[in-house]
Amino acid sequence: MEEDYSQPVLDGKGASDYERYLRTDELLALQKPPEEQVHRDELLFQTVHQSSELWLKLACFEVEGATARLREHERAAAIRLLRRSVAAVQIATRLLDELEHMSPWEYQAIRRVLGHGSGFDSPGFRNVRRVSPSLGDAFHALRRAEGLSLTELYVQGREREELYQLAELLIEWDERISVWRFRHYKVVARVIGDEVVGTQGTPVQLLGELIKNRLYPELWQVRNELTELAKGQG
Ligand code: HEM
Repeated sequence: MEEDYSQPVLDGKGASDYERYLRTDELLALQKPPEEQVHRDELLFQTVHQSSELWLKLACFEVEGATARLREHERAAAIRLLRRSVAAVQIATRLLDELEHMSPWEYQAIRRVLGHGSGFDSPGFRNVRRVSPSLGDAFHALRRAEGLSLTELYVQGREREELYQLAELLIEWDERISVWRFRHYKVVARVIGDEVVGTQGTPVQLLGELIKNRLYPELWQVRNELTELAKGQG
């Protein structure tokens, strides 16, 4: 008997296996329908936020996976997963561009229906704060097991290829989170201004200061030490 490809074989709602597997009925019902919108740009606003949450969810899932791999001393597998995390945060950063298509005046209508909703309660970003320290701990445990200081690791980078790549991926993760914060700050300043307070009472100015936050300050500090070391050798 020939297979009838027009008929779904998976369980679930939806006319096709595509819709059943991806649960598109539920996914596409997660945005306000036009009759509930206070402004048509609510679809843009919700789409950017909801997709940001998905990309941050994936990014953190891969960071946790990489941390588990590191604990098992599987460095190459960890490197592969961390590359995905970094790429996912870059996508979340690019999503912010879309918000700049909103008019700052018209956005005020949307802002009125957000209640006390604030990005500080973003599950995706909260997860970034939760998973990042363990990744750092797992990396440093591995480095210490090899008896290497961070400076030694960088000086011997060529002979310590995987550990070196891991150090670079950690700083990349850290940098990309800061770049996200920078882009977010600029979007906020462009849409609501930089001398106002947010829906949870946080001054936008404070968001500007958070850009300087570092997940792994020691990885930034070692650059200074390398510059000093090179001077001494010059
Ligand atoms: C027009 C668009 C946006 C505006 C006007 C805006 C505004 C703000 C403001 C004012 C704050 C400070 C907290 C407060 O609300 O009092 C904040 C924080 C935050 N927002 Fe947004 N936001 C926008 C888009 C987004 C998007 C798309 C995301 C994606 C998840 C996001 C995630 C966050 C996060 C994670 C924080 C905490 C910042 C941190 O820990 O560095 N925001 N936002």
